[in-house]
Amino acid sequence: MGSISDETVVENVDAPTYAPSLPVPNVQELVKEDPLQVPDRYVRDQDGILQVNDMSWLSSEIPIIDLSLLSKGNKEELNKLDLACKEWGFFQVVNHGVAKRVLQDMKDATAEFFELPLEEKNKYAMPPDDIQGYGHAYVVSEEQTLDWSDALILVVYPSQYRKLKFWPSTPKGYKDIIEAYSKGVKDVGVELLRSFSTIMGMDQDALLGLHKELVQAMRVNYYPECSRPDQVLGISPHSDTSTVTILMQEHDKHGLQINHNGGWVPVKPVPDALVVNVGDVIEILSNGKYKSIEHRAVTNESKARISYASFLVPHDDVEIEPLDHLVDTQSTQKMYKKVVYGEYLRSSMKRRMEGKAHTQMAKVET
Ligand code: OGA
Ligand code: NI
Repeated sequence: MGSISDETVVENVDAPTYAPSLPVPNVQELVKEDPLQVPDRYVRDQDGILQVNDMSWLSSEIPIIDLSLLSKGNKEELNKLDLACKEWGFFQVVNHGVAKRVLQDMKDATAEFFELPLEEKNKYAMPPDDIQGYGHAYVVSEEQTLDWSDALILVVYPSQYRKLKFWPSTPKGYKDIIEAYSKGVKDVGVELLRSFSTIMGMDQDALLGLHKELVQAMRVNYYPECSRPDQVLGISPHSDTSTVTILMQEHDKHGLQINHNGGWVPVKPVPDALVVNVGDVIEILSNGKYKSIEHRAVTNESKARISYASFLVPHDDVEIEPLDHLVDTQSTQKMYKKVVYGEYLRSSMKRRMEGKAHTQMAKVET
C-alpha cells in the first residue's frame, strides 16, 4: 500500500471550499491556563436548563443493528433498520467489518495529535475562508454562544478533493491511519446506502447513483473537560446536513445526546460499535419518513472526550427532493422543496448550528 507522503503537498485546484468561520479561542488552551474558568461566551445556561428533559432511561432502547445481516439482505434486520430510522433517526452498528486495529490506531494517533503543543497543531490551522484544518467551524457572529470544543476537519473522499496541507504529519503515520479509518467507514457507508435504497423501495445501488460522487468529510471533535458541564455544550443542538453520519466514540465516555420526543437521550457507547444517524438528505428524499434527528454533545467534568464523525454527502451538483414513489405511496404532498445539495450545505454552514433550522428552510410552506 502506498502511503501519503509528508513532503509533497500539491495544492489541488479542483478541491471545493465550503464556508468561512470567525476566529475564536482554543478551548483546550483555555482549560490548560485555568481549569476553573468558563468565559461568558461559552455559558448558555445559568439555570441548569440543559439538565431538563433528561430521558437517559431510554438509552438502552436505541437500536443496535448487525451490518453483516443487512448486507446479506436479511429481512428482519432490514425491518429493524426501517423502524430505527422512523422512530429514532439514530442506531449503532455492530459487525460492521472495520478492523478493531484500525479503530484503535485512529484513537491512539488522534489522542497524540491533540496532546501536541498548540503551535504544532496550528501548522494545520483552518484558514479564515474555509473549514478544513484544525480550529472551529460554524462561528458566524461575535455574539453567538460558543461550543466547548476544538476540531480537526478534513475532506477525505473523493481523494482529489483532499487538501493535504491540513493533514497532520505528526504523529508519524497519522495520515495513513486517517486514510485507513476513512476507507473502513466508507465501506460501511456504502453498505448502509444499499440497505437504505432497499427500505426506500429502490434498487440496491439507487442511492449511491443519486449521489453522483460520494463525498466524505471527517470531523474529529475534541471536547476538553469542563468545570461547569451544567452550563456549556460541547456541540450545539443540530441535525447533520449529510446523507448519513457515521460516528466513533470512545467506549468509556459519555457525551452524545439525541432528541427523542422532546427529551435528551444519551447514546451510550457500545464497545467497537459505530453510531449512525440519518442526515437531512435522507429526510428530504424520504419526504420526512426518516428523520434527521437533532443531537448535541455535553462535556464531562473530569475527562476530555474525542469523537470521530464522518459525513457522507452527495456531490455539490446533485438536486435533492422527495422521491416521487415515496410521496405517492404515502398519499401526501411533497413536504420539501428541491434543493441543490452544494447550496444547501453552504447555506447551512453560514448559520450557526441551530437545531433543525436548515431542514426547516427546505420545507414547503403550508
Ligand atoms: C457532529 C456531532 C457528536 C459527538 O460532529 O456533527 O454531532 O458526539 N458530534 O461528538
Ligand atoms: Ni452531528
